[in-house]
Amino acid sequence: MANEEVSSSRRNLLIATGVVGAMGVVGASVPFISSFQPSARAKTAGAPVDVDISKIDNEPGMRMIVQWRGKPVWIFKRTKEQLAALPSLDNRLRDPKSDNPDQTPAFAKNEARTIVGKENIAVIVGVCTHLGCSPSFVPEMLPQVYDSEWKGGFYCPCHQSRFDLAGRVFQGVPAPSNLEIPPYHFVDENKIIVGVPPKGAA
Ligand code: FES
Repeated sequence: MANEEVSSSRRNLLIATGVVGAMGVVGASVPFISSFQPSARAKTAGAPVDVDISKIDNEPGMRMIVQWRGKPVWIFKRTKEQLAALPSLDNRLRDPKSDNPDQTPAFAKNEARTIVGKENIAVIVGVCTHLGCSPSFVPEMLPQVYDSEWKGGFYCPCHQSRFDLAGRVFQGVPAPSNLEIPPYHFVDENKIIVGVPPKGAA
Protein backbone atom coordinates (compact mmCIF):
# COMPACT_ATOMS: atom_id res chain seq x y z
CA MET A 1 0.00 0.00 0.00
CA ALA A 2 2.83 2.36 0.86
CA ASN A 3 4.42 1.77 -2.55
CA GLU A 4 1.13 2.43 -4.28
CA GLU A 5 0.88 5.78 -2.57
CA VAL A 6 4.41 6.71 -3.56
CA SER A 7 3.73 5.84 -7.20
CA SER A 8 0.48 7.69 -7.18
CA SER A 9 2.09 10.74 -5.64
CA ARG A 10 4.80 10.83 -8.26
CA ARG A 11 2.28 10.56 -11.04
CA ASN A 12 0.22 13.37 -9.60
CA LEU A 13 3.27 15.56 -9.22
CA LEU A 14 4.18 15.02 -12.85
CA ILE A 15 0.66 15.89 -13.91
CA ALA A 16 0.71 19.00 -11.80
CA THR A 17 4.06 20.01 -13.25
CA GLY A 18 2.57 19.75 -16.73
CA VAL A 19 -0.18 22.10 -15.70
CA VAL A 20 2.40 24.56 -14.46
CA GLY A 21 4.03 24.53 -17.87
CA ALA A 22 0.75 25.34 -19.56
CA MET A 23 0.08 28.20 -17.18
CA GLY A 24 3.53 29.57 -17.83
CA VAL A 25 2.65 29.93 -21.49
CA VAL A 26 -0.27 32.17 -20.64
CA GLY A 27 1.94 34.43 -18.60
CA ALA A 28 1.83 33.42 -14.94
CA SER A 29 4.60 35.49 -13.37
CA VAL A 30 5.14 33.24 -10.35
CA PRO A 31 5.62 29.55 -11.13
CA PHE A 32 4.30 27.01 -8.71
CA ILE A 33 3.95 23.28 -8.31
CA SER A 34 0.90 21.61 -6.84
CA SER A 35 1.33 18.25 -5.20
CA PHE A 36 -1.66 16.20 -4.18
CA GLN A 37 -0.03 13.66 -1.95
CA PRO A 38 -0.79 11.53 0.00
CA SER A 39 -4.07 9.91 -0.99
CA ALA A 40 -7.40 11.61 -0.35
CA ARG A 41 -8.12 9.07 2.35
CA ALA A 42 -4.85 9.85 4.13
CA LYS A 43 -5.44 13.59 3.81
CA THR A 44 -8.80 13.25 5.46
CA ALA A 45 -7.09 11.55 8.36
CA GLY A 46 -4.60 14.40 8.64
CA ALA A 47 -1.62 12.26 7.72
CA PRO A 48 1.81 13.89 7.39
CA VAL A 49 2.81 14.80 3.82
CA ASP A 50 6.18 13.96 2.29
CA VAL A 51 7.44 16.71 0.01
CA ASP A 52 10.36 16.58 -2.43
CA ILE A 53 11.60 20.18 -2.48
CA SER A 54 14.45 19.62 -4.93
CA LYS A 55 12.54 21.45 -7.68
CA ILE A 56 12.56 24.73 -5.78
CA ASP A 57 16.14 24.46 -4.56
CA ASN A 58 17.71 26.71 -7.16
CA GLU A 59 14.75 28.66 -8.37
CA PRO A 60 13.80 31.59 -6.14
CA GLY A 61 10.25 32.62 -6.82
CA MET A 62 9.02 29.10 -7.43
CA ARG A 63 6.45 27.94 -4.93
CA MET A 64 5.14 24.46 -4.18
CA ILE A 65 1.65 24.02 -2.79
CA VAL A 66 0.81 20.83 -0.92
CA GLN A 67 -2.39 19.91 0.87
CA TRP A 68 -2.21 19.12 4.57
CA ARG A 69 -5.30 18.59 6.69
CA GLY A 70 -7.36 20.15 3.93
CA LYS A 71 -5.28 23.32 3.90
CA PRO A 72 -2.80 24.56 1.29
CA VAL A 73 0.76 24.74 2.56
CA TRP A 74 3.18 26.92 0.63
CA ILE A 75 6.82 25.95 0.35
CA PHE A 76 9.19 28.39 -1.30
CA LYS A 77 12.76 29.56 -1.23
CA ARG A 78 13.85 32.99 -0.04
CA THR A 79 17.00 34.73 -1.23
CA LYS A 80 19.64 36.17 1.09
CA GLU A 81 18.43 39.62 0.14
CA GLN A 82 14.83 38.78 1.06
CA LEU A 83 15.90 37.29 4.40
CA ALA A 84 18.08 40.30 5.18
CA ALA A 85 15.09 42.61 4.65
CA LEU A 86 12.86 40.88 7.22
CA PRO A 87 14.15 42.72 10.34
CA SER A 88 13.65 46.09 8.64
CA LEU A 89 9.90 45.40 8.61
CA ASP A 90 9.51 44.69 12.32
CA ASN A 91 8.18 48.11 13.29
CA ARG A 92 5.45 47.84 10.66
CA LEU A 93 4.16 44.46 11.80
CA ARG A 94 1.50 43.47 14.32
CA ASP A 95 3.38 40.52 15.86
CA PRO A 96 6.97 40.76 14.56
CA LYS A 97 8.38 38.31 17.11
CA SER A 98 5.59 35.79 16.53
CA ASP A 99 4.61 35.83 20.18
CA ASN A 100 1.19 34.33 19.47
CA PRO A 101 1.74 30.56 19.72
CA ASP A 102 -1.50 29.80 17.87
CA GLN A 103 0.20 30.55 14.54
CA THR A 104 3.83 29.84 15.36
CA PRO A 105 5.17 26.64 16.93
CA ALA A 106 8.09 27.15 19.30
CA PHE A 107 10.68 25.76 16.84
CA ALA A 108 9.79 28.55 14.38
CA LYS A 109 9.68 31.48 16.81
CA ASN A 110 12.40 33.46 15.09
CA GLU A 111 12.68 36.22 12.49
CA ALA A 112 12.37 33.90 9.48
CA ARG A 113 9.77 31.67 11.18
CA THR A 114 11.56 28.48 10.16
CA ILE A 115 13.67 25.69 11.54
CA VAL A 116 16.95 27.31 12.62
CA GLY A 117 19.60 26.74 9.96
CA LYS A 118 17.02 26.32 7.19
CA GLU A 119 15.89 29.94 6.96
CA ASN A 120 15.96 30.00 3.18
CA ILE A 121 13.05 27.51 2.92
CA ALA A 122 9.69 28.87 4.09
CA VAL A 123 6.79 26.56 4.96
CA ILE A 124 3.56 28.47 5.60
CA VAL A 125 -0.17 27.65 5.62
CA GLY A 126 -1.69 29.66 2.78
CA VAL A 127 -4.92 30.73 4.45
CA CYS A 128 -5.53 34.37 5.36
CA THR A 129 -6.12 34.76 9.09
CA HIS A 130 -8.94 37.23 8.46
CA LEU A 131 -11.69 35.27 6.72
CA GLY A 132 -9.78 32.48 5.05
CA CYS A 133 -9.07 33.72 1.52
CA SER A 134 -5.90 32.68 -0.29
CA PRO A 135 -3.39 35.54 -0.38
CA SER A 136 -1.43 36.18 -3.58
CA PHE A 137 2.32 35.54 -3.66
CA VAL A 138 4.18 38.74 -4.50
CA PRO A 139 7.86 37.89 -3.90
CA GLU A 140 9.39 40.77 -5.85
CA MET A 141 11.09 43.44 -3.72
CA LEU A 142 9.50 46.25 -5.68
CA PRO A 143 7.06 49.08 -4.83
CA GLN A 144 3.42 48.01 -5.07
CA VAL A 145 0.30 50.15 -5.24
CA TYR A 146 -0.54 49.03 -1.71
CA ASP A 147 2.99 49.44 -0.33
CA SER A 148 5.71 51.68 -1.76
CA GLU A 149 8.34 49.92 0.40
CA TRP A 150 7.33 46.36 -0.42
CA LYS A 151 10.02 43.77 0.39
CA GLY A 152 8.12 40.80 -0.96
CA GLY A 153 5.29 38.94 0.72
CA PHE A 154 1.62 38.08 0.35
CA TYR A 155 -1.35 40.26 -0.51
CA CYS A 156 -4.88 39.12 0.23
CA PRO A 157 -7.24 40.39 -2.50
CA CYS A 158 -10.37 39.90 -0.38
CA HIS A 159 -9.83 42.75 2.10
CA GLN A 160 -6.27 43.91 1.38
CA SER A 161 -4.41 42.26 4.24
CA ARG A 162 -0.66 42.06 3.75
CA PHE A 163 1.97 39.66 5.08
CA ASP A 164 5.73 39.63 4.67
CA LEU A 165 7.78 36.74 3.27
CA ALA A 166 7.78 35.11 6.72
CA GLY A 167 3.97 35.28 6.81
CA ARG A 168 3.95 38.06 9.42
CA VAL A 169 0.95 40.35 9.23
CA PHE A 170 1.30 44.10 8.74
CA GLN A 171 -0.35 46.63 11.03
CA GLY A 172 -3.51 48.38 9.86
CA VAL A 173 -5.01 45.48 7.92
CA PRO A 174 -8.04 43.31 8.75
CA ALA A 175 -6.11 40.07 9.36
CA PRO A 176 -5.55 39.82 13.12
CA SER A 177 -2.56 37.52 13.18
CA ASN A 178 0.38 36.04 11.31
CA LEU A 179 -0.11 33.21 8.85
CA GLU A 180 0.16 29.79 10.45
CA ILE A 181 3.39 27.81 10.40
CA PRO A 182 2.61 24.07 10.30
CA PRO A 183 4.70 21.47 12.09
CA TYR A 184 7.36 20.16 9.70
CA HIS A 185 10.90 18.88 9.62
CA PHE A 186 13.65 18.06 7.16
CA VAL A 187 14.47 14.42 6.42
CA ASP A 188 17.39 15.50 4.23
CA GLU A 189 18.31 18.44 2.00
CA ASN A 190 15.58 17.65 -0.52
CA LYS A 191 12.79 16.22 1.57
CA ILE A 192 10.56 17.63 4.26
CA ILE A 193 7.60 16.14 6.07
CA VAL A 194 4.70 18.50 6.77
CA GLY A 195 2.66 17.53 9.81
CA VAL A 196 5.47 16.36 12.09
CA PRO A 197 7.62 18.84 14.06
CA PRO A 198 11.41 18.49 14.39
CA LYS A 199 12.64 15.97 16.90
CA GLY A 200 12.52 17.39 20.40
CA ALA A 201 10.14 20.21 19.40
CA ALA A 202 6.77 20.55 21.04
S1 FES B 1 -9.79 37.23 4.00
FE1 FES B 1 -7.83 38.09 3.70
S2 FES B 1 -8.12 40.15 4.17
FE2 FES B 1 -10.07 39.30 4.53
